[in-house]
Amino acid sequence: FVQMWEILDYPNPFTLVEMGAGQGLLASDILCYLKKQYPEFYSKINYIICEKSAFLKQQQQKQLKNQLNLNSSIQWCDLETLKNETIIGCFFSNELVDAFPVHQVMVQNRQLQEIYITVDPQTTTDIKFKETIAELSTENLTDYFKLIEIDLCSPAYPEGYRTEVNLMALDWIKTIASKLNQGFILTIDYGYPAQRYYLPSRREGTLQCYYQHRHHNDPYINIGKQDLTAHINFTALDRYGERYNLHLHGFTQQALFLMALGLGDRITALSQPSDYSLSEVLQRR
Ligand SMILES: C[S@@+](CC[C@H](N)C(=O)[O-])C[C@H]1O[C@@H](n2cnc3c(N)ncnc32)[C@H](O)[C@@H]1O
Repeated sequence: FVQMWEILDYPNPFTLVEMGAGQGLLASDILCYLKKQYPEFYSKINYIICEKSAFLKQQQQKQLKNQLNLNSSIQWCDLETLKNETIIGCFFSNELVDAFPVHQVMVQNRQLQEIYITVDPQTTTDIKFKETIAELSTENLTDYFKLIEIDLCSPAYPEGYRTEVNLMALDWIKTIASKLNQGFILTIDYGYPAQRYYLPSRREGTLQCYYQHRHHNDPYINIGKQDLTAHINFTALDRYGERYNLHLHGFTQQALFLMALGLGDRITALSQPSDYSLSEVLQRR
């Protein structure tokens, strides 16, 4: 972020918009670190959190206000309510886009169909969900595959090939593009470029469910209690973003990104002989 601030010629304020902030731990780490290491930059930061969950918003406020006394320049608002072309700074997110709801599609008789969910009318007590397959709900799904130049109806893909499409990610990147005046978008998430995402061998897509730290692939159980996630197609974000004047600046693996930011130096520093015992050093690492 400091580097971004320098590249943009030290704007004041420099706005950081964190989207989907969970319990607010990343926000507090970022702000504490900047306050200590880059006080001048810290004093220019306008920190905005866009969070959908009222419960998590409360937790974030508790984390940031009470524990760290960092409330002065933090605001909470909906992404949509930010004024157009006003933000100079960076929009960023960690594991947000993989949490968006997705469409599921399937190849049947060389045609792309969509998977819908209905409630089994036979059930009287527990609700039972049932999948039905029918025509695509929107042409945006066809346009999506044109955008990323993938043809799931080609002979390369087996009958019954099933995958997902995150159309909401496209709306999201378009909204951000409309809010950004000058600056960057940093998206940290699980995902692949299109060619790897839609590999013919990935016949079941990437939709995963997490419940009590275990993962499985049945979205129809533990309703309202489990985390659902689907990987991101970064090519779609990149190409759709181009339409709204966003340009890809870099795409890399998180480990390499952190190494380039100096993670290696940090680990070395933590490993220097000091007051810590070997086991403490390893724990800190
Ligand atoms: C998997 S959590 C990641 C939390 C945090 N960034 C982290 O890395 O620990 C996803 C977060 O995004 C939020 N979220 C999901 N959809 C959202 C949306 N459309 N707008 C804003 N926040 C959203 C969730 O409430 C949650 O805070």
